[in-house]
Amino acid sequence: MANVLVTGGTGLIGWATTERLAQDGHRVVVYDKSPDLDNLATVRDDVAVVQGDITDVNSLLRTAKSHHVDHIVHLAAFIAHEGAGLPAESIHVNVRGLANVFDIALALDVRRVVWTSSIAAMNVGPDYDGTPVDESFVAAPVTPYGISKYACEAVAAVYNRARGLSSVGLRPQMAYGFGRLTGRVGEFNAAVRQIALGLPATADFDMGSQPVQPIYNRDYGRLISSALFTSTSLSSHIYNTPVERNYTWSEIADEIRDLVPDADFTLGPRPAAYARTPVTDGALAARELGFTPQYTLRDGLTEMIRHYRGAGR
Ligand SMILES: NC(=O)c1ccc[n+]([C@@H]2O[C@H](COP(=O)([O-])OP(=O)(O)OC[C@H]3O[C@@H](n4cnc5c(N)ncnc54)[C@H](O)[C@@H]3O)[C@@H](O)[C@H]2O)c1
Repeated sequence: MANVLVTGGTGLIGWATTERLAQDGHRVVVYDKSPDLDNLATVRDDVAVVQGDITDVNSLLRTAKSHHVDHIVHLAAFIAHEGAGLPAESIHVNVRGLANVFDIALALDVRRVVWTSSIAAMNVGPDYDGTPVDESFVAAPVTPYGISKYACEAVAAVYNRARGLSSVGLRPQMAYGFGRLTGRVGEFNAAVRQIALGLPATADFDMGSQPVQPIYNRDYGRLISSALFTSTSLSSHIYNTPVERNYTWSEIADEIRDLVPDADFTLGPRPAAYARTPVTDGALAARELGFTPQYTLRDGLTEMIRHYRGAGR
C-alpha cells in the first residue's frame, strides 16, 4: 500500500480521487487551501487533511515528509473562471505550484506524480472540423488558465526528461459530479442540482454538432489511480482522457429530461467569447494506463440526482 499526498484533495476531482485511494487501502494525506470536509464524508476518518497552499513549498515538503509520502496526486489549481482576469495568479499557482510539487517529489524520491493539465491547454480556430486530436496535437491556448496549463505541460516534460521524474499529466475536458458549483463544469453541476430539486435550470452550453466529452468524477478518480500505479512502460508525459463516448449538448439535455421528465430545463447557446478546444482521442491513455470508464453519462447523472435529493452517495 502507498502513502499518497493529494493536493486539492477535497475538490470536484479531488474528493473522488481521495475516496478511491482510501477505499483501495492506501494511506492518504490531503493538502488543500480551503478543505471542504463534507466532500470527504465517506472516508473522513481514514484520511489526514492538512490545510496548506501549494505555493508554499516548505509547508508542502513538511507535509509530504511527515507522512512518508511515496506517490503524489496534484490537483490543486487556480481554475479557469478564477484565472479569467488574473494571468499572473494563474501562472503563480498553476506553474509555480506544479514545479513545487515536482521539486519535493524529487527531494523525497517519490515514485510517481500524477497531475491534471486541461483541455484548455489547447485551442482551435474557426476552421476546426471536429476531428479528434491525439497527444501530438499542439496549439497554443488563448486564456490565462489555458496558457498556465500549456506551460505546466512544458515544465513537466523538462522534469521528466532532464530530472528523471516519473510524472503523468492528464487532460480532463468535463469531469462533472457533485462537488464544485462554480466555474464552467460547476454551472453544469448546479443545473443538475436545480433539476434534482425540482427547480428551473438554464445551461448555456449548446455548441450544435460539436461534441463534448463528459466523464464522471468517480471515474476520474479511477483513472488517476491507474496512472499512479500502472507498471506499463509509458510513452508520453501527457495523456488525453478516455471517455465513455462523445455527446452533443442536446443529447445531454435529452438524457436529463429522460431521467427527470418534468424538468424545467433550458439549454442555451454557448457564449461566443469562450475559447474553442478540440475533441480529444483518449486511446493512448486507455492502452497505456489501462483505463476504461465504468460510468455512462446516465449513471453519473442518476447518482448526482440521488445525492442532491438527499438519498446519499
Ligand atoms: N473538473 C474538470 O472538468 C476539469 C477540467 C480541466 C482541468 N481540470 C483540472 O483538474 C484539477 C482539479 O479540478 P477540480 O475540478 O477538482 O477543481 P476544484 O476547484 O473543484 O478543486 C480544486 C481544489 O484545490 C484547492 N486549491 C485551490 N488552490 C489551492 C492552492 N493554492 N493550494 C492548495 N489547494 C488549493 C481548492 O480548495 C479545491 O479543493 C485542476 O488542476 C483543474 O485545473 C479539471
